[in-house]
Amino acid sequence: MTITPSSIVHYLDQYVIGQEDAKKILAVAVYAHFRKIARARSDRSRMAKSNVLLIGSSGTGKTLMCETLSRVLDVPFVTAEATSLSHTRFVNEEIEAVLQRLVDRGDGDMDKAQNGIVFIDEIDKLKAQEGEQRGSSGESVQHALLKIMEGSQVKLATGQYIDTTNILFICGGAFVGLDEIIRSQTHGYGFIATSKGDNQKILDRLNTRVKPTDLFTYGLIPEFTGRLPIIARFHDLTREMLVRIMTDTKNSIYGQFRDIFRDEGVELVVEPRVFEQIAELAIEYKTGARSLRGIFEELITPVLYVVPDGRDLHRVVYTSLFTDPTFEHQHAPADASAPR
Ligand SMILES: Nc1ncnc2c1ncn2[C@@H]1O[C@H](COP(=O)(O)OP(=O)(O)OP(=O)(O)O)[C@@H](O)[C@H]1O
Ligand SMILES: [Mg+2]
Repeated sequence: MTITPSSIVHYLDQYVIGQEDAKKILAVAVYAHFRKIARARSDRSRMAKSNVLLIGSSGTGKTLMCETLSRVLDVPFVTAEATSLSHTRFVNEEIEAVLQRLVDRGDGDMDKAQNGIVFIDEIDKLKAQEGEQRGSSGESVQHALLKIMEGSQVKLATGQYIDTTNILFICGGAFVGLDEIIRSQTHGYGFIATSKGDNQKILDRLNTRVKPTDLFTYGLIPEFTGRLPIIARFHDLTREMLVRIMTDTKNSIYGQFRDIFRDEGVELVVEPRVFEQIAELAIEYKTGARSLRGIFEELITPVLYVVPDGRDLHRVVYTSLFTDPTFEHQHAPADASAPR
């Protein structure tokens, strides 16, 4: 398959609901990365790389999108947690281990690994804590990451060197509180002179853009934010999107449980109202799509417990989150005794 930005988005659409802007931004960034690799092989000209920063509330699909992306791409792709880097005194060893995994993913092919993608999650946790001095553990991790993001020769435990210049880095984080910072620092359109003919939509978009200064105020060092020129924002999921996550994705939870029931010879039917109720609860929990599975499993588990024992059980139907499901049997007694 030849990869284009739209084919990447198309693939992501099967697993990730909504987040259209982020999908496009990421797809273009990854596509540009591929073009760059191809070009470097042919004419050796060098283009600057554009690492990407993903910002959005917890449970909105940042990690999911990167994991899904890694499956379409024919390049080594690894994920690391910034928090586990900051909880160790051996930051550089940890980073080396991440790069080593990238080499392993590329089956030891150094050329492949050097053009791979590294996703670093929870990058917002590297901010200097309130009252903390410069040189905090988070900040020192930022410096360590900065070095590999800029491109350097890193010696691996195997003695081999890996050049990180062409590795694409994607960083992700929830950045709780960033919106307040953006709002407090936004004064009209700044230096951009506006006129009547300007497209309000474009102006609004520029205005809600996350600026490097916002990230600096948040607690990331300027050199670090400077290495993340592309920023994609993930939106909070609406009730409709949460419902679609449960029912419409390629590996949706509803589909998975319907399969489990089908293996038992039973049809599972959950009416749309139930998914709406679950979505409403999930919104109250404020953990994005994260709590959907738990709520759904709690609903299904008691029934799944009895289903394998239920002879001639034919269908289980849920009509509300707050009432017991109805059980329909193959040979309903009423029908069986009905006069012909
Ligand atoms: N947009 C989405 N489309 C489909 N499923 C989603 C979406 N967002 C979240 N999910 C579901 O919620 C789970 C958690 O999402 P994910 O791990 O991507 O969150 P995150 O944005 O990385 O959050 P955090 O900031 O807490 O790491 C996913 O495994 C997936 O099942
Ligand atoms: Mg995540």
